[in-house]
Amino acid sequence: MKILVIHGPNLNLLGKREPNIYGQLTLADINNYLQQLAGDLGVELECFQSNHEGILIDKLHQAVAIFEAVVFNPGAFTHYSIALRDAVAAIKLPVIEVHLSNIQAREAFRQHSVIAPVAAGQISGLGVQSYLLGLRAAVAKVKGES
Ligand code: DQA
Repeated sequence: MKILVIHGPNLNLLGKREPNIYGQLTLADINNYLQQLAGDLGVELECFQSNHEGILIDKLHQAVAIFEAVVFNPGAFTHYSIALRDAVAAIKLPVIEVHLSNIQAREAFRQHSVIAPVAAGQISGLGVQSYLLGLRAAVAKVKGES
């Protein structure tokens, strides 16, 4: 089984970016935890980050031929990118939306996700655990266990 993790804009700055909100871990640290869990679960994992909407859309389109599920943190695009929402809706893969911070507990503009209605599910507010639970959920979804 091959799973794709996509990190959206500004997540390349993790560790330095507002650590009081997003934590001390770098993106490399998070990817390492994900690769460890993927090994334990016996799945193959690719981790990808981009700051560009079009590149994220292209990656989602290409994922269909290669991967069986996607774990996706769309960053700020979560709240307004109809183009990314349409890409998630268009691909026939389960997409688990994840957020490090609890978007429901933050500014009003972050409390709405345009991705959530087309995602298989959303996990928010648990730091790196959001990603790790997202990976477990993606694997369960592919296995038909959720
Ligand atoms: C985020 C939450 C978004 O509102 C924000 O724009 C991000 C990160 C999170 O993981 O908590 O870039 O997706």
